[in-house]
Amino acid sequence: MNILDIIDKKEKNEKLSQEELQYVVDGYLNGTIKDYQMSAFLTEIDLLGLSEEETINLTNIMLHSGEILNLGFDNITDKHSTGGVGDKTTIVLAPLVASLGVKIAKMSGRGLGHTGGTIDKLESIEGFQTSMTLEKFKNQVAKIGIALVGQMGNLVPADKKIYALRDVTGTVDSISLIASSIMSKKLASGASNIVIDLKVGSGALVNTLDEAKELAHLMVKIGNINQRKTACVITNMNQPLGFAIGNSVEVLEAIDTLKGQGPEDLTKLVIKLGGIMTHLALNIDEKEAEEKVKENLFNQKGYQKMLEWVKAQGGNINHIPVAQNKITILAPITGYISNIDALKIGKLARKLGAGRLNKDDKIDLTVGIVLKHKVGDYIEKGQPLVDIFYNQKQISEEEILSCYTFQNEKVNPPKLIIDIIKPEKYISQTK
Ligand code: URA
Repeated sequence: MNILDIIDKKEKNEKLSQEELQYVVDGYLNGTIKDYQMSAFLTEIDLLGLSEEETINLTNIMLHSGEILNLGFDNITDKHSTGGVGDKTTIVLAPLVASLGVKIAKMSGRGLGHTGGTIDKLESIEGFQTSMTLEKFKNQVAKIGIALVGQMGNLVPADKKIYALRDVTGTVDSISLIASSIMSKKLASGASNIVIDLKVGSGALVNTLDEAKELAHLMVKIGNINQRKTACVITNMNQPLGFAIGNSVEVLEAIDTLKGQGPEDLTKLVIKLGGIMTHLALNIDEKEAEEKVKENLFNQKGYQKMLEWVKAQGGNINHIPVAQNKITILAPITGYISNIDALKIGKLARKLGAGRLNKDDKIDLTVGIVLKHKVGDYIEKGQPLVDIFYNQKQISEEEILSCYTFQNEKVNPPKLIIDIIKPEKYISQTK
């Protein structure tokens, strides 16, 4: 077997065997297959795709390239988001479902996006510790039912190396490669129930609904054949989620949401995702689970769990600093907001310092953009449209207004939850 024959075979769109895929992943990890050879191989996959069977095999090979966490609990629930602008869902969802007895032992990432990832956002809470020993992590889950940290252990080293190469070779958007990358990490992190929030739209990893559906079906299939109850919710990311975009401003919005005073779209999403997580974890009817989630949102039991969780990880919930400088951009005309470009506004948040361009960039957790209105709202000229919280770096009024379109005719708010993909029957490894 050699890499040139394998690239040649893929170029002819012939099926690759498990042994051939294993040979490529092992060879790339041990350095016998070079970056230029691997990038030729990934480019062929990007152009021609992989079959479902090849994708399943590749996921399993990647999964076994490193450590597989065993947390010692038999019913851990995980939620994954493919990432979007203003996406603070995990910070609301994790304590909310934990308050219902759903066990959350989650690892999250830092963002290489327009704003920080969940870990960066949580670090905007003064003192919040995002790393701890495995022992402490397990004890915290056993004691309060929730712990959330940055990456631990040597999980899926094959993905780390391949993803870094995909990032610089324009092969990030292959559906087969995304599915194997996400699912190998989810499977390695030890959860038995997995709910994926797959964003589609301008500010998302996938831009079309067809691609989103294909990816969702593939991930659900991979999860379930690996005996993890897996479901995927496809949600709209054409405009930012909620109002706040940044790090500390997003945590503050997450807290408002846990107090039952959050934005309508975020609240709706949390209830839907939380309902599915609770349904899978507690084995109860999905409607009943959704009702329980709603109840703990509005009676603030979810918020109480957040207080317990933040305290357990050393954070001071009363100290979440936001930049002192603020300017308010006013609406330039009277009319209905017909679009807020999520990608563009996300890039402006990064320009303020809220996100990274390179993985070692330092981000400013206190800066951000807070919208006053969403798509479908009617606004009069001169009314506040956006607040910008800034330090050294600034963005202009013109840049903010270029993210918006207005029209005279009424606009319906876009549908947030587009589709829910589940298997016909969940295959579970839990008793
Ligand atoms: N997120 C991942 O973890 N992997 C991908 O391939 C894309 C997004």
